[in-house]
Amino acid sequence: MLILAFESSCDETSVAVAEIDGTKYEIRSNIVASQITMHTLYGGVVPEIASRAHTEAISKLTYEALESANVTPEDIDVVAVTSNPGLIGALLVGVGFAKGFAAMYNKPIVAVNHIKGHTAAAYYNNCDLKAPFFALVASGGHTSLIDVKSPTEYVTVGRTRDDAAGEAFDKVARVLGIGYPGGAVMDALAYKGDKNAIKLPSPALADSIDFSFSGLKTAVINYVNTQRQKGVEISNEDIAASFTNAVVKAIIKNLEKAHELYSYDTLVIAGGVAANSHLRTAAAELARKLGVRLCIPEKSLCGDNAAMIAAQAYHDFTAGKIADSSLNAFSYQVT
Ligand code: KG4
Ligand code: ZN
Repeated sequence: MLILAFESSCDETSVAVAEIDGTKYEIRSNIVASQITMHTLYGGVVPEIASRAHTEAISKLTYEALESANVTPEDIDVVAVTSNPGLIGALLVGVGFAKGFAAMYNKPIVAVNHIKGHTAAAYYNNCDLKAPFFALVASGGHTSLIDVKSPTEYVTVGRTRDDAAGEAFDKVARVLGIGYPGGAVMDALAYKGDKNAIKLPSPALADSIDFSFSGLKTAVINYVNTQRQKGVEISNEDIAASFTNAVVKAIIKNLEKAHELYSYDTLVIAGGVAANSHLRTAAAELARKLGVRLCIPEKSLCGDNAAMIAAQAYHDFTAGKIADSSLNAFSYQVT
């Protein structure tokens, strides 16, 4: 079936057309308009600016996505849209537009959970992936360990108790003055530094499979400020390497603990932070050690995009989860 999907939960407006039948997952178009340059000045996403930018972009992107997929609105079988969680004003732009499109062309509409969408990005390069599986979704807004019981039934069994992993990458990058968002820059810098240069606390909590990234972030910020006050030169490379090592080690530790608890045989790692090359290498090693199958989306599908929403919408639609005209957006998780 041909799915037209919309994603506007944060600072990317994305529209995609995908052809999916459950064994074949094919992206026909996946246009992502990033707003990063609009938010860089503020060092983070400004919700009002995000909503306005989505409003300005979404209509044009929709017709671009249809054209580049070589389809007409009439060819579309299902309309899909991220409805939760995310920035409420940003989500409302996508939901409102998708509802209008579905009503105008008389198409069914599916409301997709953004976190499930991240996980579903793994279907594109692992077409035979089938639930049950275990998932880590690590992004700028979330860090969750999920027992995926079926393609539509997700049970969160571990989570961050404060900052998300991506948020911690961004905040450390900000204090180092190396740009926003900082994940990709930190990833590259970490290769040039010594991962044992700075002693940092682990974000893996001892009593559970939860995380706390705020202590780690504060430890790095304190280290940077103290060194600066003393007039000691700091090495961004050593900080990136030590910080990345602490994050990756904690994630691997909790995934290993989760394996003892949930005995999963397939592991999916998704979300913006899944693009981190150090995490990808460590996860591959862990999968070999545990004898589990590892599915990670291609790097280009780790960050927010609408193709991932189309993939999850296929599963929601086939499970009969079809929304009606009362469909709304929610900043918190509802589906
Ligand atoms: O999934 P995403 O695009 O948006 C949210 O749903 O939040 O994730 C964005 C986050 C940002 O915090 C960004 O710094 C982080 O993903 N990120 C990375 C890398 N690429 C993006 N973090 C670590 N290493 C990377 N290579
Ligand atoms: Zn996301």
